[in-house]
Amino acid sequence: MRNRVSIVKGDITELRVDAIVNAANNTLLGGWGVDGAIHRAAGPALLEECRGLGGCDTGDAKITKGYHLPARWVIHTVGPIWAGGSEGEPALLARCYQRCLAIASQHHVKTIAFPAISAGAYGFPMGLAAEVAVKETTSYLEEDSSIEQVIFVCFNDSAHKSYAVQLKELGVIVDDTLRVN
Ligand code: APR
Repeated sequence: MRNRVSIVKGDITELRVDAIVNAANNTLLGGWGVDGAIHRAAGPALLEECRGLGGCDTGDAKITKGYHLPARWVIHTVGPIWAGGSEGEPALLARCYQRCLAIASQHHVKTIAFPAISAGAYGFPMGLAAEVAVKETTSYLEEDSSIEQVIFVCFNDSAHKSYAVQLKELGVIVDDTLRVN
């Protein structure tokens, strides 16, 4: 397990992996943050394909091509908006990871990168978001050996610290110098 999860610092749109995950909103019609970055890097054809998907429920995920991105696929998921933690947010965030990994597996994805879903504009506390991400991903990978590598992409030091704590608990040696490029 330990050699199947890792973290890097940087911009997810630059990663040459089979699939990157987008932290989208329910419309799937783009936004700011990582959603905006992915749409900018992929080009307008991504939005065209998203228009045909009819949106996405919170906790669910849908897949599109990657277009001008180095990644072949984009898996768009909609994380919960943090409302204090008593509205089922952790379970909904967990479902995002489960759904993204299941869709990745169905599309024979071997390498997949996640941003810190919901931990930006949606206000999810980074430490808890990282804990849910790593715990859900590792429990999925224990059941499904088809996905070879999951990379958690940290856009800032706070995210990197939170994910590093989680991976060190797994016994994963974190290389602090690892960057996307
Ligand atoms: N690469 C990797 N991570 C990134 C990038 C990037 N290029 N840009 C931002 N991030 C990080 C943020 O720093 C944060 O840690 O992704 C994490 C998620 O932040 P958001 O993109 O704000 O996503 P989220 O909190 O899920 O909010 C989603 O924001 O952009 C809108 O349309 C989106 O309405 C939706 C909401």
